[in-house]
Amino acid sequence: MTAPEAATPHQTPAAHEGSAPLDPDAIRERAERALRTARERTRALTLCVDERDLTAQHSPLMSPLVWDLAHIGNQEEQWLLRAVGGREALRPEIDSVYDAFEHPRATRPSLPLLPPDEAHRYVGEVRGRVLDVLERAALHGDPLVDAGFAFGMIAQHEQQHDETMLITHQLRRGPAVLHAPPPPGPVDAALPAEVFVPGGPFTMGTSAEPWALDNERPAHRVEVPGFHIDTVPVSNAAYQRFIEDGGYERERWWTAEGWAHIREHGLHAPLFWRREGDQWLRRRFGVTEPVPPAEPVLHVSWFEADAYARWAGRRLPTEAEWEKAARHDPDADRSRRYPWGDADPTPDLANLGQRHLQPAPVGSYPRGASPLGVRQLIGDVWEWTASDFLPYPGFAAFPYREYSEVFFGGTYKVLRGGSFAVDSVACRGTFRNWDLPIRRQIFSGFRTARDAEREARDA
Ligand code: AVJ
Ligand code: FE
Repeated sequence: MTAPEAATPHQTPAAHEGSAPLDPDAIRERAERALRTARERTRALTLCVDERDLTAQHSPLMSPLVWDLAHIGNQEEQWLLRAVGGREALRPEIDSVYDAFEHPRATRPSLPLLPPDEAHRYVGEVRGRVLDVLERAALHGDPLVDAGFAFGMIAQHEQQHDETMLITHQLRRGPAVLHAPPPPGPVDAALPAEVFVPGGPFTMGTSAEPWALDNERPAHRVEVPGFHIDTVPVSNAAYQRFIEDGGYERERWWTAEGWAHIREHGLHAPLFWRREGDQWLRRRFGVTEPVPPAEPVLHVSWFEADAYARWAGRRLPTEAEWEKAARHDPDADRSRRYPWGDADPTPDLANLGQRHLQPAPVGSYPRGASPLGVRQLIGDVWEWTASDFLPYPGFAAFPYREYSEVFFGGTYKVLRGGSFAVDSVACRGTFRNWDLPIRRQIFSGFRTARDAEREARDA
């Protein structure tokens, strides 16, 4: 749908598959489909539990599901009905209740929330009017609507909350209510452990992707020295070797903060894992099952990922390294939208969109590999990087400071690549996610990297 990133910021993007600028009807259709897909997921996640489960707080880390539901509608009302459509406010009195900055998650159950039936009615009424706005809106002439940006932003926002709601489902106790088939094969078992990425500059971030969010912009050249990166994410089997080697008992593998955190909270394994006899079990959406050895490890914090990497004699990749491994095409010296090229994700390329409620075994999705052969960069598990969440050179907050800017600094670590729980509209080679280094209720895993030897670096 978009121009691929040029090798240099000044070069005109080359024509490419699916890269022609879309006409307004095509943008409208794409926006409508993205909004509809998001709403189907939102409904699936909120109609499968009863009123009590919708209003309960399943974890102090999360909002009640019914807060996410009405917050989705309220953001849509504020941006698409009021800002884009210039329509009168539907329910201005509830804006403050659904303002994420006014009310931390732990306090949301005590707010005067719309009850479930009213919340459903509200989001439906907003959507009906939004489809009318979409039909009439000019999709150019203002950065908020150029190429349908605000509609894409709101579809992404809803999908991000759909991932958040799936996390709430995972934390919820009680019998399973969500079901999905396991990810498909085939799996390549005989892959090289790591891939060498030669040193040199590449184009990081984007100025061309129409629905990219502010923190992904602008495209800029970054010099990345040669490095090696794991072909696939770290598996449960590999992570178990770290546990069995006393990884959680040896201070030397941990940062001071990480060590203090696991001691204080008595952590010995990923979240949702439990030892029974001589095997590890995990709870996954209400079902307890043996930990599958070939799956990427899931529900680890940045501190755990960082400690594992040090134990393995390696380190986490920087964000620039991750993106170069995922996007740089060394033959063409240009950055792709995705590891496999510029085409949008399809089910044979990556595990996205809650089609499956777990990551695929490592070595899956051969067609989704990067030019150098790195696998599963998109989908399956969010991958912790070594990097703090910082603005790119030339960053400009858009359209609101609270999406990215207020989170920049040394507090949050960047995750890349998306999980099985995020929809493709909110996942691409440039997409940046972030969270606190202690967090592990998210669908987080990682892969490791190491510096190139001096000879390779100098080559
Ligand atoms: C980008 C996933 C960190 O959930 O806090 C949702 C996305 N921003 N509503 C979050 C977001 C506003 C954000 N993350
Ligand atoms: Fe939000």
